[in-house]
Amino acid sequence: MNYNNKAKIMQRAFELIRDGIKNRSSLFHTLTMSTIHDQEIYSRVMVLRDFNASKRFLRFHSDYRSKKVQAIKNNPATSVIGYDPESKTQIRMVGTSIINHNNKESKKAWKESQAISKKCYSVKDGSSHAIVNPELYDFHIKDIDLENGYKNFATIIFTFSSLEFLYLQRSGHRRCKFIWDKEGKVKSYWLVP
Ligand SMILES: Cc1cc2nc3c(=O)[nH]c(=O)nc-3n(C[C@H](O)[C@H](O)[C@H](O)COP(=O)(O)O)c2cc1C
Repeated sequence: MNYNNKAKIMQRAFELIRDGIKNRSSLFHTLTMSTIHDQEIYSRVMVLRDFNASKRFLRFHSDYRSKKVQAIKNNPATSVIGYDPESKTQIRMVGTSIINHNNKESKKAWKESQAISKKCYSVKDGSSHAIVNPELYDFHIKDIDLENGYKNFATIIFTFSSLEFLYLQRSGHRRCKFIWDKEGKVKSYWLVP
């Protein structure tokens, strides 16, 4: 891999993100997403479900009742970051998110989800709800109709307009930023690491 070539670096970034969808040992499988809620920044770890390189979007799943969904509806500004020690690479993306709930997109993602992933959407009151006794919220998959959780299921489509790549190496780190304009034209430049 030639870390002095920006085109190769973009290719590498896209490969690492794509690999993160299925490869559970990659830390790009569990990325950190930050959003703004009431003028405060909130970050949380989320499982990467899909990536479209040409459209520059990443798909995540969440409970429609969650704080992050409300935050994005009020302010779509989103940043996603990951670092994988195996590849010694950090990737930071900045852009905006949209929510799919009870529509064609959410239905497709729900149909492709495994039972164990569907289970959490049947939890009563929904994620981020303040509770007194957490044990009252435990339940077994066999005691519920998994499909009832669909009404609480949402997908988050995060589209990035910039991507920053940082590769750590003893001989000298490499840091490079890509910025896309509204027409999808990309500009790139090196940064002091
Ligand atoms: C390894 C890991 C994976 C997670 N994956 C997701 C996920 O895919 N979707 C999600 O909504 N929350 C996921 N969470 C939980 C979130 O980090 C967060 O605690 C929760 O969604 C509430 O966030 P909010 O209050 O900002 O909405 C995950 C947490 C961990 C530790």
